[in-house]
Amino acid sequence: MKPEFKLAEQHYRYLFENANDAIWVHDMAGNILAANKACGNLTGYTQEELVGTNVKQFLTREFLQLAREVRRKLLSGESFQQPYEQRLVRKDGGTRIAEMVTSLVIVDEEMTGVQHIARDVTEERKLQQDTRIYSQLCIRAQERERERIALELHDDVTQGLLLLSQRLDMMTSSPRTKLSKSLQEKLGELHSLTNEAIAGLRRCAQDLRPRILDDLGLIAALEWMADDLVKDQGIGAHVEVLGTEHSLPNEVQLLLFRIAQEALNNMRRHAEASNVWITIQFGSDKVTLTLRDNGKGFKLPEKVEDLARIGKLGLAGMQERALLMRGELTLDSEPGKGTTVSVEVPT
Ligand SMILES: Nc1ncnc2c1ncn2[C@@H]1O[C@H](COP(=O)(O)OP(=O)(O)OP(=O)(O)O)[C@@H](O)[C@H]1O
Ligand SMILES: [Mg+2]
Repeated sequence: MKPEFKLAEQHYRYLFENANDAIWVHDMAGNILAANKACGNLTGYTQEELVGTNVKQFLTREFLQLAREVRRKLLSGESFQQPYEQRLVRKDGGTRIAEMVTSLVIVDEEMTGVQHIARDVTEERKLQQDTRIYSQLCIRAQERERERIALELHDDVTQGLLLLSQRLDMMTSSPRTKLSKSLQEKLGELHSLTNEAIAGLRRCAQDLRPRILDDLGLIAALEWMADDLVKDQGIGAHVEVLGTEHSLPNEVQLLLFRIAQEALNNMRRHAEASNVWITIQFGSDKVTLTLRDNGKGFKLPEKVEDLARIGKLGLAGMQERALLMRGELTLDSEPGKGTTVSVEVPT
């Protein structure tokens, strides 16, 4: 053996043994030929126990299927996403989630085995899941709080002001009350101010929890928001319902409404659009809500979570809400080409 080969082999051995990632090589029948120390930590078996063991032992039926699929693609040269995620069963019966990179071992132009490099991402995934659960609990708590405040504004504060407005109206309009002209004018002014305050509170309560959504459902609420865009901003807004409409659970309606509300707010604030199109399509097993504008568009971030980090919560909130319904949010935008937000939810 040439000395440089020997050196290369020693170097590889050193990397193999001391790598943080678990590395193992098995023959074409799945029998392990070599496994490093980290592989022992990942699986709970000693290195000695691992050598000679068949890799099937670490895989449940479902994940054995994935392993076969990976092997098939490797052998046929078909490309596939690497790293990919695999679940491994440990000696103690527990499972670990591993991020894997798999390649063929070719010696003298012959396939002699398969090499896997695996990083244990169990804790990372658990943390991500916990964070997701936490943020979804926050969304639900926020909705309950919004509902409570909207109800309070409507039932207590607005009712009190309505009473005040009626009294002021009676005082100024009743022929029996003898008021000086200037006092009458002042009371009239107070009456208008009270009515303005009532209108403001109603708008605020509607934004927090539109009654139209609870009373008449999602489509009526989408039409109401579209009307608002026309009235307030002069933006052309078009609502289209496709497929056979069927009723959706209240929470799904509310979450879809919030996604539409945020998307339309963004169109109002950022897009400089002249038209927006809102489409809701009812399929046999899914519903798709799409909001499109013909505005200036923007460069999409790689991950919407990156925006949340700098305090922009709109797109990230939409995504969290889509996940709460086991749905999927798709964003499509390009500078100069407008923006489309679409959410598909299984029903
Ligand atoms: N329809 C749109 N047209 C043009 N740019 C948009 C549109 N929607 C979003 N953006 C861009 O994407 C950014 C992120 O949107 P996001 O809703 O997450 O945050 P925000 O609207 O800036 O703040 P927040 O929603 O938290 O009040 C916006 O700041 C804007 O630059
Ligand atoms: Mg926003």
